[in-house]
Amino acid sequence: MEQIKIFSPATIANISCGFDVLGLALASIGDEMLLRKTEKPGVRITKILGQNLPLETSQNVAGVAALAILNESDYQGGIEIEITKRIKAGSGIGSSAASAAGAVWAINQLLNKPFTELELVKFAMEGEALASGVAHADNVAPALLGGFTLVRSYDPLDVIKINTPSELHATVIHPQIEVKTSDSRKILKTTISLKDGVKQWGNVGGLIAGLFLEDYELIGRSLVDHIVEPIRAMLIPGFNEVKMATKNAGALGTGISGSGPSIFSLSKGEKTAEKVAQAMKEVYTTIGVDYDIYISKINKKGIYPIE
Ligand code: HSE
Repeated sequence: MEQIKIFSPATIANISCGFDVLGLALASIGDEMLLRKTEKPGVRITKILGQNLPLETSQNVAGVAALAILNESDYQGGIEIEITKRIKAGSGIGSSAASAAGAVWAINQLLNKPFTELELVKFAMEGEALASGVAHADNVAPALLGGFTLVRSYDPLDVIKINTPSELHATVIHPQIEVKTSDSRKILKTTISLKDGVKQWGNVGGLIAGLFLEDYELIGRSLVDHIVEPIRAMLIPGFNEVKMATKNAGALGTGISGSGPSIFSLSKGEKTAEKVAQAMKEVYTTIGVDYDIYISKINKKGIYPIE
């Protein structure tokens, strides 16, 4: 194979209770990437459509992740990358992760799959480190593995794929304000109380159990964040109103997508997800902030080749 074109999905990290450990992949929004083998060694980003991002390999998350995988391989040639960005940078739905994970997944295919999924997660995390200063895996893992994923441990890295109940739908609203992941990490406290810890790991366990048991009520009860959301909510105008409105519209739960400003809800069934979208839109129309909105199934495949 000399070249490959792929879809690399947007992702929701944290999923309320699982800061830095839980994530899911979306089906209806993602980037397209074309990767090509070249005789000339090295990684070159030849084109980025849809966003103004650096073409310089060392400054681009896809470039850095591509170098990470190539440095560990026997391949002597080079790689050219073209990216069509549909996920806005700083939106909180894994824009950098889609580029980093997409690059390593596609290169692994071009090299006849010498690396495991876990190794690909590690390479993609190097791109995330460039984007946010921290090599978190909760966006790149679901992009690469599909569905819901849990980073059980960072050292050593251990990533678990979690069951996806088939009626689960996500609604995501992206109010048009930019929140940088690096900034929204700086405002977090570095310690938590034992009392908050107990509540939080109860919910993480509840959410994982709910996903495996396909118990939608349990999933909903577990979508609560006692640690990060109370601090980050202040960065997102309308957040509390959206939480209230989506609950009334029937969402199982609502929280901040990754580091924000996007807000996500999970619902049982597409109809409820549509009602939830309507409720979200009304909040931002009332407060006068523009938005993008998506309704999506959970993407069980992760990254995949397109024609
Ligand atoms: N877990 C990360 C954070 C995700 O919340 O900072 C960033 O998308």
